[in-house]
Amino acid sequence: MSATAEIGIVGGSGFYSFFDDAERVEVDTPFGPPSAPLTIGEVEGRRVAFLPRHGERHQFAPHKVNYRANLWALRAVGVRQVLAPCAVGALQRHLAPGAFVVPDQVVDRTYRPGHTVWEAEGPVVHVPFADPYCPRGRQALLASASDDTPLVDGGTLVVINGPRFSSRAESQWHSAAGWSVVGMTGMPEASVARELALCFSTVCCVTDADAGLEGEEGVTHADVLKVFAGNIERLKRLLLRTLAAMPDGDCACQHALDGLDLPFALP
Ligand code: ADE
Repeated sequence: MSATAEIGIVGGSGFYSFFDDAERVEVDTPFGPPSAPLTIGEVEGRRVAFLPRHGERHQFAPHKVNYRANLWALRAVGVRQVLAPCAVGALQRHLAPGAFVVPDQVVDRTYRPGHTVWEAEGPVVHVPFADPYCPRGRQALLASASDDTPLVDGGTLVVINGPRFSSRAESQWHSAAGWSVVGMTGMPEASVARELALCFSTVCCVTDADAGLEGEEGVTHADVLKVFAGNIERLKRLLLRTLAAMPDGDCACQHALDGLDLPFALP
């Protein structure tokens, strides 16, 4: 394999425009192919690999994304730090559409196959996940806030299975629990990243108020697409600043498997 990268971005296809000169790299993994070939090039002086989470034709719904293959493929080209922006609904009134949240916690309400890479028979692997997001990735994101893109530091992302949105009762429950935002792609993406000893952080773009907030009609796919499209340029500029601000070196995330007996080796 030729091209390598240090930082991975998993997000919507708008990020292709980051690259003037990029290489397309096909990677196969023990879990099958990732959502698309990787696009690898130099951005802000960093080697970056981009992967459109939902595929090049947006053909994979959140419950059909091969999270294991995506993260394995990124690791296989050398990536150790992953930034994975996503669209979310607000569960708290102060988070208006267009707000950006850098969560520090996650609640997994998905029920999907392929939620772990450590499925084969053999030594049992339990990784720590008390702090699901990389502190260095979060700090680089937060340091990249600007006047036109302030960031909410912290909060809980609850991830539902999808592809449907929440019922009003489910949403009221999520909101009453004090959770901040709701999305469909953040898990098992974050936990698979930890299982692969990758640093992983996310910035959530609020596209709507979820159905449980008083007076809300309930969200539609069209609302989400429209608001996300209206905020993609701010998100791209934020991520460019984040790439420049990302410190070198490793951290605890990259030692999540130290001392464990693994059934197979990582790339
Ligand atoms: N993605 C964007 N808005 C959402 C919502 N309200 N619920 C789940 N996922 C979302």
